[in-house]
Amino acid sequence: MATKGKTIVLGITGSISAYKAADLAARFTKDGFRVDAVFTESAMKFASPMTLRNLTGRPVVTTMWELSTEFSVEHVALSEAADVVLVAPASANIIARLANGIADDMLTCTVLATKAPVIIAPAMNDNMWANQVTQDNVAKLKKRGFIFVGPAYGRLASGKMGLGRLTELDEIYGVTLQVLGKKGDLAGKNIVVTAGGTQEPVDPVRCLTNRSSGKMGYAIAEAARNRGAAVTLVSGPTSVTKPAGVKVVDVKTAEEMLKAVLDATKKADALIMAAAVADFRPARASGSKIKRRELGDLTLKLEKTPDILEQARGNFIRVGFAAESDNVIANAVDKVKRKGLDLIVANNITEKGSGFGTDTNRVTIIDSKGKAEELPIMSKYEVADKLLDRISSLLKKK
Ligand code: PMT
Repeated sequence: MATKGKTIVLGITGSISAYKAADLAARFTKDGFRVDAVFTESAMKFASPMTLRNLTGRPVVTTMWELSTEFSVEHVALSEAADVVLVAPASANIIARLANGIADDMLTCTVLATKAPVIIAPAMNDNMWANQVTQDNVAKLKKRGFIFVGPAYGRLASGKMGLGRLTELDEIYGVTLQVLGKKGDLAGKNIVVTAGGTQEPVDPVRCLTNRSSGKMGYAIAEAARNRGAAVTLVSGPTSVTKPAGVKVVDVKTAEEMLKAVLDATKKADALIMAAAVADFRPARASGSKIKRRELGDLTLKLEKTPDILEQARGNFIRVGFAAESDNVIANAVDKVKRKGLDLIVANNITEKGSGFGTDTNRVTIIDSKGKAEELPIMSKYEVADKLLDRISSLLKKK
């Protein structure tokens, strides 16, 4: 991940969801970030500084007046070290204090003094969130450039349903990576990625589809977002969580994917077709469910779907994937030339840990001249980063 080695100051405030900050801290630490947790007085009633200390392997700040921590000498040291300040969960109280420039503990001092971006993930009772005074404070902070994630609608500490829940950790995590990657090598670039398999209807119940999980395309979308790109992800049906900070266009059929890709590439710098588009569809889909008892054998007449890569042309980098089971490189070289692509990613789908549904992939990246770069097996996110390295250098030459 390009953002490794950066410092996230994680502010934790008094909310029943404070324990969830531990999950976030563990995730960021695992990714290689330095996480410095700062507790407010009331946060310590809900979550344990010891847990955060162990998960981050770093001193945890619980007061401004403790001489033995490395931050207490200079009460703004954390504000300077921060690449981003993330307050999660953020109570109504901290939002009010930040909106009014109060600086009476380590977290408020850090936020007031920092030049780093500040992300706020609110969590509170729904009436407290809806209260005009909170909304005015939020508007004030937004105007000053603070980034808000959530809150979400759902079950609250009071037991009732409402808007005020700490939003999903995946979303907070995604937005934080996006903010950290804002000035990455793909900043200012529009990248369109396709993912998943298409579904071609046979009747209202059945369809023709394939085994694509969407993981490869989603990993590319996330990696591009984390390097500063504005990403549009055209996605076939999948169960993969939608990445935060990415524009997702849901489609089902190849025809719908074609329309979405042609629309999204009007302003694109690159198109990456990781989707497994069905090559054929029933020539005529039945409007009502085909009944087994009314038929002997069933013969389906199939016709070709539109070739999206063929039709999506313009002043942008075009990258295809080639899912192959034999003559992998030769077939991919043929495809890159025939379709006039800038790059193709050859995927041996019969290899263990590679291809459909896996978390890892083993690919060879082939350029327009047929020159191949063979990569070892790695996570789909790492494959995405390697591919984006190649796209980034092609974009620089444009
Ligand atoms: O989703 P996962 O489970 O993570 O699996 C990843 C993957 C195996 C699906 C992915 O790595 C991959 O190889 N995707 C391309 C699969 C494929 O359709 O390959 P193909 O050789 O049939 O097609 C070649 C290229 O043409 C692809 O970029 C495809 O998106 C594109 N295509 C295909 C058919 C069509 N009608 N229009 C197209 O644009």
